[in-house]
Amino acid sequence: MIQQNVSLKPYNTFGINVNAEAFASVKTLEDLKTTLKNRPSKILIIGGGSNILLTEDFEGLVLHIDLKGIEVCKKQNETTIVKVSAGENWHDFVLWSLKQNLGGIENLSLIPGNVGTAPIQNIGAYGVELKDTFVCCEALNLKTLELEIFSKEECNFGYRNSVFKSEHKGKYIITSVTFELTHTKHQLKTTYGAISNELLANGVTSPSIQDISKAVITIRKSKLPDPKKLGNCGSFFKNPIVPKEHFEQLLTQFPNMPHYPVSSNEVKIPAAWLIETAGFKGKTFKNYGVHKHQALVLVNYGGASGRDILSLSQLIQKTINSIFGIALEAEVNVL
Ligand code: EPU
Repeated sequence: MIQQNVSLKPYNTFGINVNAEAFASVKTLEDLKTTLKNRPSKILIIGGGSNILLTEDFEGLVLHIDLKGIEVCKKQNETTIVKVSAGENWHDFVLWSLKQNLGGIENLSLIPGNVGTAPIQNIGAYGVELKDTFVCCEALNLKTLELEIFSKEECNFGYRNSVFKSEHKGKYIITSVTFELTHTKHQLKTTYGAISNELLANGVTSPSIQDISKAVITIRKSKLPDPKKLGNCGSFFKNPIVPKEHFEQLLTQFPNMPHYPVSSNEVKIPAAWLIETAGFKGKTFKNYGVHKHQALVLVNYGGASGRDILSLSQLIQKTINSIFGIALEAEVNVL
């Protein structure tokens, strides 16, 4: 059913109050196809709403994808194939997998958003990315209204990137994602500093996937604000990748700058460090600001507009560019 003039506040984790001219929440594939047949030219697809900054009312149809269901497709020697509908909450799916003792996504505990939007930006945390357990996804072609299957290769995953964020942007709606999870011989990833420290602090020497999830949840809760209590979209910016010469020149000026090599001639620098060094961490501007425990996260203390937050992000970009000569790129979609 299409409703008119609906507030999008409950549908975006920044908690921005703008209106959609038309709005529909769809629970079945049939529903989705019928709604799309009679759609206006402009549409916006919303999943968990955890990666968008809404700066104005949306003149068109906002489609909230609420397809539910988790299906165990096949049990193989060491792995199980699971197909998950796009509208399932990501963290609920992680908790479900842990209950079944299925491994591979425990490091991705507590990431906000839905399963169907996770591949778009190849969500990642603590040394694991969605692509590591991804098999394929089904997506509805908005032109033909036919379902198409995308293999891992066809998704062309990169750091916070995929084909759905680049050449196929706005052309498909992901309706389900299929994963390959381990039911035995779990491949634990505990090398990420904060995880090994947290496990050590808990006295855990041979961790289970459940222990790792618990550690990740504790770490995330200590640094990242809960969107239900404080509006935010997680990391607002991507960590920039700079040429080695530029990095070496910066290092002479900032010898303590954290950095991670990504190739023989490129280095990744944490945006959070750049923003903190530029003095923005914990800064409040009226009813919005930069989170006090994680400089990558912009927050809405209540009632801020999308434009306020956008202007803060632009001020940060301008400042970082003038101090470090680095162009920070937003990770969040600005609309
Ligand atoms: N740092 C600062 N100041 C801060 C926070 C961090 O200087 O306020 C420094 C830390 O000292 C560390 C470095 O930045 O040297 C990296 O920090 P951290 O390990 O916390 O990770 P991040 O680069 O800030 C990335 C992801 C997060 C993910 C974490 C853990 C991006 C854009 N962000 O953050 O993803 O949870 O790693 O793997 O890649 C998200 O996408 O919404 C998100 C939260």
